[in-house]
Amino acid sequence: MRRLPPLPGTLFESYEIRTEQDIFRARQSVGRAMDALGAKVIRKTRLVTAVSEIFRNGLIYGGGALVLIHCHNATRTVWIDCCDDGPGIEDMALALSDGYTSGSGLGRGLGGAKRLADAFEVLSEPGIGTQVRLAGRA
Ligand SMILES: Nc1ncnc2c1ncn2[C@@H]1O[C@H](COP(=O)(O)OP(=O)(O)O)[C@@H](O)[C@H]1O
Ligand SMILES: [Mg+2]
Repeated sequence: MRRLPPLPGTLFESYEIRTEQDIFRARQSVGRAMDALGAKVIRKTRLVTAVSEIFRNGLIYGGGALVLIHCHNATRTVWIDCCDDGPGIEDMALALSDGYTSGSGLGRGLGGAKRLADAFEVLSEPGIGTQVRLAGRA
């Protein structure tokens, strides 16, 4: 599938999301990346909340995901990619709308993450997979 260009900055850590515990580890890592850039607690919490939703979607809907966490020091921004090779998202506008879930969620994950992040992009191809990119300024 079409992929977004390489993430800005340098690799901080990467994780394979296969279990609930992996989600926990990866979200902690995003917090540490924000700490490394001197983020205020509120900004760190906002980004960690956003990525938690995306990592969980990658596990539940994507069947597992690869997470890359980058730090871009010049702009004091943490960038995250969450890629899976799951079923993809047929109707992106519907998936982003509040209250829509194809499963048993609250349907607020994607839309909420988009609102919380300073940058947000999704590429998805049905039958191929999904790439979600987020950024948070420290
Ligand atoms: N990585 C993904 N792969 C496939 N479908 C996804 C993915 N992420 C989200 N979706 C679809 O978008 C819908 C909305 O996601 P979200 O807003 O997080 O709500 P919820 O997780 O509560 O269902 C999901 O129900 C699912 O159908
Ligand atoms: Mg969700």
